[in-house]
Amino acid sequence: MKEAFAIVILAAGQGTRFKSKKAKVLHEVGGRPLIAHVVRTAQALSPEAIFVIVGYQAEAVIESLRELAGPQPGESIRFIRQAEPLGTGHALRCGQAALESAAPRLLVLYGDTPLLTPLTLQQFLESHLRTGAAASVLTAQREDPAGYGRILRGPDNAVTGIVEQKSASPEQLRIREVNTGIYCFETKLLFPEVERLTPDPTTGEYYLTDVIGLLTSRGHKVAAYEAPHAQEVMGVNNRAEMAEVDAILRARKATDLMLAGVTIIRPETVLIDPDAEVGADTVIEPGVSLLGRTRVGEDCRIGAFSVITDSEIADGVNVQPSCVITEAKVAAGAAIGPFARLRPGTEIGPEARIGNFVEVKNTRVGRRARAGHLTYLGDATVGENTNIGAGTITCNYDGEKKNLTVIEDEVFIGSGTELVAPVRVGQGAYVAAGSTITEEIPPGTLAIARSRQVTKPGWVRQRKRKPAKEGSKPAL
Ligand code: UD1
Ligand code: CA
Repeated sequence: MKEAFAIVILAAGQGTRFKSKKAKVLHEVGGRPLIAHVVRTAQALSPEAIFVIVGYQAEAVIESLRELAGPQPGESIRFIRQAEPLGTGHALRCGQAALESAAPRLLVLYGDTPLLTPLTLQQFLESHLRTGAAASVLTAQREDPAGYGRILRGPDNAVTGIVEQKSASPEQLRIREVNTGIYCFETKLLFPEVERLTPDPTTGEYYLTDVIGLLTSRGHKVAAYEAPHAQEVMGVNNRAEMAEVDAILRARKATDLMLAGVTIIRPETVLIDPDAEVGADTVIEPGVSLLGRTRVGEDCRIGAFSVITDSEIADGVNVQPSCVITEAKVAAGAAIGPFARLRPGTEIGPEARIGNFVEVKNTRVGRRARAGHLTYLGDATVGENTNIGAGTITCNYDGEKKNLTVIEDEVFIGSGTELVAPVRVGQGAYVAAGSTITEEIPPGTLAIARSRQVTKPGWVRQRKRKPAKEGSKPAL
């Protein structure tokens, strides 16, 4: 097949300008590691094969792509090791044996350009095939070209080479057309030049960019294709650029959701991960984070500064401001918060209410049940229509293990109750406020577990008549 091509992604560098213990390509932008964005874009083009060159923290980079690579190691991504980061040209040399035989054409991408879209790459590939060049370079016009390699052109405007910032003359530094680090090579013409690369005299690195000059000096044609959106091919070299790119990716996601019918108030303030889903007519207030695989239904309202991670929120749910919801499920029509915390294993039933300063963990709350204020429900089930009074605590931990609390349907738990687990409260039972419940409460009963009140008539007047000696207290 004449058009067949393989993709190689360079991701072996440490990323010294990040000043990080972690490899640059593992840092996250828009909710994914840098490298994952590039691999996804590569996969969208359905090439013959995808290779990733790994070196610095290779195992962690491979691990970060495990989900994309499929269950079998190397199923759709093949990893090549570059033991020492001796430059982008050296990286290709490390993969020569595998890359040479992969396909007639090789599309080269750098692991630090996460904004790149499949559409731009597709157009670039088509342009390469049209021109019949030995190599094509994707270029971009940048207002500020600092840090990028500059594209050199001859008197006839043909590309003659690429000069890196560090080696460029003052005149060359004024060139605004930059190398994006995205190339398409005729494979069999590429590798003889890769073999000829010599280290750069200043840095000692083998520059892949030098291959362009080598090809043209040998009389081969190199074509340039200018990226329609310069921003899209931006490389991320430090954390300031990372923040810039993150903002762009977040904005893309917010725009997608808004176009699908979601209202986002001040979209520049929200953080929505790429896999999060939100239904139409839901309103998202400022500063909200929807992370991981969170799914929010239709007609919901997600209050300001709530952070929802890997959770399912059904239709018509009202999450008031400043809630933290993690690995929980909330059924239709429920109301949560403000200032509520739903921890892993929580399931809130339809139309149930969880109010302020209520923490729920590993607990199922039934339909229309209510826990309005200052409560901890852990390792429990709460039945339908049950009312949990303010300040109720399930004492689920006995110092060794977690124990279960079962509260059946239509129960009324008075304020300030402690339920010492394991314990069961039967259907329709009442628990008097301030009780410490240690035994099963049968259905339809009232349980009171607190000491009786003592009221002493005249006590205050008596105390005032006989002022106590300093430091002593009146007898009760
Ligand atoms: C590179 C280009 C520059 C271009 C810019 C576009 C070279 C010599 N320069 O510069 O012309 O304008 O990208 O963003 O290619 N890598 C390896 N092994 C190595 C070194 C790097 O795999 O030995 C990987 C890195 O992990 C990274 C990518 O190659 O993903 C690019 O490396 P980087 O150091 O960021 O190159 P730039 O200096 O940005
Ligand atoms: Ca770079």
